[in-house]
Amino acid sequence: MKVGLLTGGGDCPGLNAVIRAVVQGVSNEGGTCVGILEGWRGLVKGLSRDLDVAETDGIIARGGTILGSSRTNPFKNAETDVAAVRESFKALGLDALVAIGGDDTLGVAHRLHSDFNLPLVGVPKTIDNDLMVTDFTFGFDTAINIVTEAVDRLRTTAESHRRIIVVETMGRHAGWIACFSGIATAADYILIPEVPIDISHVVDVLKRRRDGGKNYNIVIVSEGAEFPDKGSTTMAAETDAFGHVRLGGVGHVVAKLIEDQTGYETRCVVLGHLQRGGAPSAYDRVLATRLGLGASRLVLKRKFGTMVALSGTRIIETTLAAGVAASKTLTMDFYHEAATFFK
Ligand code: F6P
Repeated sequence: MKVGLLTGGGDCPGLNAVIRAVVQGVSNEGGTCVGILEGWRGLVKGLSRDLDVAETDGIIARGGTILGSSRTNPFKNAETDVAAVRESFKALGLDALVAIGGDDTLGVAHRLHSDFNLPLVGVPKTIDNDLMVTDFTFGFDTAINIVTEAVDRLRTTAESHRRIIVVETMGRHAGWIACFSGIATAADYILIPEVPIDISHVVDVLKRRRDGGKNYNIVIVSEGAEFPDKGSTTMAAETDAFGHVRLGGVGHVVAKLIEDQTGYETRCVVLGHLQRGGAPSAYDRVLATRLGLGASRLVLKRKFGTMVALSGTRIIETTLAAGVAASKTLTMDFYHEAATFFK
């Protein structure tokens, strides 16, 4: 059996661990693997390289993806690009393709399978943890550890200068990263996309903290957090290749409002792509490995149109259709627990 692998969308720590596991799982049953370069662009342009166990055995600790990634959507110019994808499939002699990605990449996999019956299996990935059907995605744990380490460092400088520091995290339209890292760093306030920003409450909480003797504060704001009027705080005109608005900038707006309304010196730090960089955590390496092995099992059983997911502690099989049906916002129990500390 000849199995292709591709990684699409934003990179994410743990992608290489999935690649390693799929290659091992397929090779154990006598199959071979080929890596498609740069996500779906690799199939549109015919970019690939062979992958074997010897080469992939040592990549588990590497961040990013050895295959490269892109946000190419072949359905944007469907007539030419989908045809090119199908042509590459034939030219490479692929019996199956494992697509490792978030909702965009898996959405393309789902359409290619349902419209053209291409033999696709999905593996969910994203630092945002916003994918349906899986309890957690690999990359998320690494991202919240990076935010936690950054905030621990910012805390000492905030304290020395008696400042408020607003830390903007990624996460798109879901507050997972902001909420979990906010809990882990005992942030004084956490702003998430699921709850409109109430700046007067933020200011009230921060003033009470100061009155209570705390001389610095940390506020975590998710890049997708919005004001009640949904006023623009992003680089709204800019969209990525999939047509998503590029987020970022709300932290600066929040910091200015806080400084104006409290009188305390306030700075904003946007963590940005740092959150996706570097080696995966041990948890993400294990999760990514288990998902990769699960995907190789689905491929070997020729169960196409499916994807693997985490349910509790088990790796389960589900459908690509279920995985891309909607995005998963923050489970509000987590936020209510976090908000106990900033009532
Ligand atoms: O989906 C992952 C993510 O890192 C989001 O948190 C963020 O909004 C987006 O990707 C950034 O994308 P890009 O790397 O294309 O700027």
